[in-house]
Amino acid sequence: MYIEKAKVESIEKINEQTFLLKLFSPSIASSAKPGQFCNVKVSERTDPLLRRPFSICNVEGESIYFLFDIHGEGTKLLSHKKFEDEIEILGPLGKGFVYDGSYETAVIVAGGLGTAPFPFLINRLSKDKKVAAFVGARSKNLVLQHGLKNISVATDDGSVGFHGTVVDLLKKEISSIAKNKFRIFGCGPNPMMKALQKYAMENNFDCQISVEAAMACGFGICQGCPIEASDGESYLLVCKDGPVFDAKKVKI
Ligand SMILES: Cc1cc2nc3c(=O)[nH]c(=O)nc-3n(C[C@H](O)[C@H](O)[C@H](O)COP(=O)(O)OP(=O)(O)OC[C@H]3O[C@@H](n4cnc5c(N)ncnc54)[C@H](O)[C@@H]3O)c2cc1C
Ligand code: FES
Repeated sequence: MYIEKAKVESIEKINEQTFLLKLFSPSIASSAKPGQFCNVKVSERTDPLLRRPFSICNVEGESIYFLFDIHGEGTKLLSHKKFEDEIEILGPLGKGFVYDGSYETAVIVAGGLGTAPFPFLINRLSKDKKVAAFVGARSKNLVLQHGLKNISVATDDGSVGFHGTVVDLLKKEISSIAKNKFRIFGCGPNPMMKALQKYAMENNFDCQISVEAAMACGFGICQGCPIEASDGESYLLVCKDGPVFDAKKVKI
């Protein structure tokens, strides 16, 4: 884990509300793994005090990328950063996806900003793995395809692709994928992760999910991000034991 003063190399708007931020961050870039995140100090002032967590969207050489929407004050401040501004980031944090092993197809299931960690995952998959990406959004103009491939789209309002949730789209399409051995990688809002977890467990699918939680420290000190383990008797920390968990291991 490093604290790095990262310089902004570029910031671009890739749709009406989503930004792609590229930072020069050599220490984090050289040690990050797909599914890990960074805790970003969005302001040089003390307000907002807490760093904000963002998935590492990709790594290229000594640079890292974040993909983010404006949610509140912190992300608004981040969206105003300019070329060569310095941003203090802490990372890489947490446990990412386990992506080696004997399966043929990586099935990506992402909702909204949940697409963020997958360009990095796709880049690190061995060349023999196929990718099938299922992407869900509220409507057409919010669909995020950045850095993905072999994409099927679902929208809540039916304005493009399948009319319904991305998990329902996966259920519809799974027979064409299930001919090969596959592993599911999910990231998105917790209600979506819960639906994916239920479907995967009912069918005994190999599935990993990235879980959301409000965070403070980001590395296991404040105990502020507990999630119940599936044994019902213990708690895990989303920032340290996750954010990626085997779908069988946690209660969302
Ligand atoms: C491991 C992890 C990875 C994340 N990766 C990304 C990412 O790649 N891109 C991205 O845009 N966002 C990501 N998030 C969510 C991101 O951290 C929040 O959007 C951000 O903290 C909001 O800060 P803010 O000051 O703009 O909003 P705030 O004023 O703090 O909150 C505004 C709104 O955002 C919601 N929000 C705040 N924190 C979270 C959170 N942790 N998860 C979900 N909703 C939240 C609040 O409920 C509120 O409705 C991630 C969260 C976690 C835990
Ligand atoms: S955010 Fe502090 S323990 Fe997880």
